[in-house]
Amino acid sequence: MAQKYGLDTAKLPVHVGMIMDGNGRWAKKRNLPRIAGHREGAKTVRMAVKTSGELGIKVLTLYAFSTENWKRPKEEVNFLMNLLVEYLVKEIDELQQENVRICSIGNVTDLPKKALETLKNAEKKTVNNKGLQLNLALSYGGRDEIVRSFRNIAYKVKDGLISPEDIDHDLINEYLDTKNQPDPDLIIRTSGEMRLSNFLLWQGAYSELWFTDTLWPDFSKEEYLQALEDFTKRQRRFGKA
Ligand code: FPP
Repeated sequence: MAQKYGLDTAKLPVHVGMIMDGNGRWAKKRNLPRIAGHREGAKTVRMAVKTSGELGIKVLTLYAFSTENWKRPKEEVNFLMNLLVEYLVKEIDELQQENVRICSIGNVTDLPKKALETLKNAEKKTVNNKGLQLNLALSYGGRDEIVRSFRNIAYKVKDGLISPEDIDHDLINEYLDTKNQPDPDLIIRTSGEMRLSNFLLWQGAYSELWFTDTLWPDFSKEEYLQALEDFTKRQRRFGKA
């Protein structure tokens, strides 16, 4: 049995999703501005990417900015967008070396020009990498994704290219942002909140959920490994007896 960090690698999830919550509270506890929490949270992103890659996990989807996050104060939104640019610029060489492929899901065309350009460049540069696929969910909402996909299917039906009988799970999958990707096996959420908050609603139908009270900036490699170990012990039945 192949092992890494004491984990049976054959039983690890293929796709992990992470709801990175608690940056603001981390900062508040230290009397710091919320943005300090996001900056610290970027360090945890590095850990999560590196660890997932080392373990041979195929896809890691990070909920970096939701469709609802646009309602935050302008300064915080700007800071998050700049942090994304900074992360992609600073880390791109290392991500290349680690064979990471960067992808995005969500309404990314809503991002500020600089952020969108940097993201597209990173996607282009890493397109042939065969290691971890890092999905950044940006301006992402599960319901929004489903609406966009149904609308695109409806256009095809209207043009006579698809008949209503053709619409099934596989067809819907093809119209989602996660086209051709496996569903998340495990979704981790930090900071004690126990909800999905519009993250991968369709894809997460049978995901195992793992919650911790730890705030995202404090989420450590040890705790990530613990979540993975717990996952390896879960019985997944996908609705069967
Ligand atoms: C939720 O915490 C976190 C976010 C909305 C942003 C996540 C962003 C990062 C982890 C920064 C870096 C990301 C990348 C990809 C470089 P919150 O602000 O809602 O925390 P709170 O619930 O305690 O207020």
